[in-house]
Amino acid sequence: MAGSDFALFMGQLLRRPHQVVALAPSSRFLCAEMVAGIDPAKGPVIELGAGTGNITQAILDRGVAPENLHSIEMNPEFCDRLRARFPGLNVHQMSAGDVGDLPVENAQAVVSGLPLLSMPLPLQRDILTGTFRRVAPGGPYVQFTYGPKPPVARALREDLGLHWRVSRKIWWNMPPARVYRFTQNPA
Ligand SMILES: C[S@@+](CC[C@H](N)C(=O)[O-])C[C@H]1O[C@@H](n2cnc3c(N)ncnc32)[C@H](O)[C@@H]1O
Repeated sequence: MAGSDFALFMGQLLRRPHQVVALAPSSRFLCAEMVAGIDPAKGPVIELGAGTGNITQAILDRGVAPENLHSIEMNPEFCDRLRARFPGLNVHQMSAGDVGDLPVENAQAVVSGLPLLSMPLPLQRDILTGTFRRVAPGGPYVQFTYGPKPPVARALREDLGLHWRVSRKIWWNMPPARVYRFTQNPA
């Protein structure tokens, strides 16, 4: 990550702390865990809350073509940086709550850097229901969290019939984090 990206991230953290909600961009160790299982042959990928693009870079490093990656980010300054850093990437300046409206069918995964648990429940619900309209059957919603609990509210996990797998703790991140992969019951 370039020093200018780090400076942009920290500047936006100070200006919009309730949107950024992280002490630092995700480390390369956390990014590697987030994108494990991404396969360029399995179709498009959707990313939520791309920020300055550390997870974006990790998805592209798996071999996904930029035109097969759709990155949603609501902050206009981050969007400008993403467009400059990743030519050909589909950058959507919009709320992740509208992910269900993206013109993408059968995404292999939705990979989220959003501060999901700090969002109001109706927005979490829009993000999750929209996600499972866009992913192929069995495709995961991938979300990191710094806390000890699953990063989707219990009520939503139950309503949407979500199952999950959780990674080991990634210590080389600020702060340490775990990665959850949520999938939905076929019904
Ligand atoms: C914790 S930062 C993660 C940035 C980057 N993905 C990373 O892991 O380093 C959260 C990002 O989510 C974005 N964000 C927060 N709420 C959002 C929303 N409702 N829709 C889209 N992006 C949002 C913020 O602007 C910020 O870029």
